[in-house]
Amino acid sequence: MSIRRITLHQLRVFDALARHRSVSRAAAELHLTSSAVSIQCRKLADSLGHPLYEMAGKELQLTSAGKVLSRSCQDVLDRLEQTALELDDLHGLVHGSLRLAIVTTAKYFGPRLLGVFSREHPNVEVTLFVGNREQLLERLAANRDDLYILGRPPERSRAAAEPFAENRLIMVTYPDHPLASETDIAPERLDGLSFILREEGSGTRLVAESFFDEYGIIPRMRMELGSNEAVKQSIASGLGVTLLSEMTVQAELAAGTLVRLDVRGFPLSRQWFIAHPRGRRLNPIATAFRQLLFDSATNLNRG
Ligand code: PGA
Repeated sequence: MSIRRITLHQLRVFDALARHRSVSRAAAELHLTSSAVSIQCRKLADSLGHPLYEMAGKELQLTSAGKVLSRSCQDVLDRLEQTALELDDLHGLVHGSLRLAIVTTAKYFGPRLLGVFSREHPNVEVTLFVGNREQLLERLAANRDDLYILGRPPERSRAAAEPFAENRLIMVTYPDHPLASETDIAPERLDGLSFILREEGSGTRLVAESFFDEYGIIPRMRMELGSNEAVKQSIASGLGVTLLSEMTVQAELAAGTLVRLDVRGFPLSRQWFIAHPRGRRLNPIATAFRQLLFDSATNLNRG
């Protein structure tokens, strides 16, 4: 085995192959031909004295040696990217892009943090997609963004996700609602009450439904609306009860246009998650934004 003979180019090629589990997709990413990818990987395997992958039918599988090498490739390439960034930093030149996708509810803190980030990294071009959970999961499957913020982690096989802050969900209603002045309300008393909820496909709706299922509550659905703002407006006009993330209603609770229902077991404590597609390395810019999120986590719920 001669590890000295291997080249950085070969590592890049193998890294792409390991991420895509496909010679042709690696070739497309690197603008090479498939045979160039195969040749570089073969040379690498010869230098290391181990086969790196094998085909099981149509599926490309890494061997144990291939898995070891794939981890090393990621370390080496990450370190190089980090070095490039540090060198750029020396000249005040950090540029590149950050593609962030957040669920609608994270609109109450995401853009604010992006503002902070953009001031610290003025040459980074930022794109922000805001949508509901289902839309984010579709984008994640298509590998369209660097980072995703959502209220429950995506499937483990698709994404690496870490919790970074608490997300409290509460029941709210209009001030004259018959239950508004009661305390310690048993969840079962919500059965049959008029509700306005976020749309199917939203994370908020999922939480509401699992709460209803847990207590056998059948809500009388007055409306289902596609934004937190629309839900709040119709509740404030006297239309029913809803479940929302606390951070979306802070202003209305303070102004008294909405009130919190004191339902037993509330607030429901959930977490915010930051996720990125498995198999996609977090670039230094995304790493810096992730760090900012963790650093700001304790202030997120303060509005
Ligand atoms: P939503 O997201 O805006 O889709 O309801 C909140 C969540 O994912 O919990």
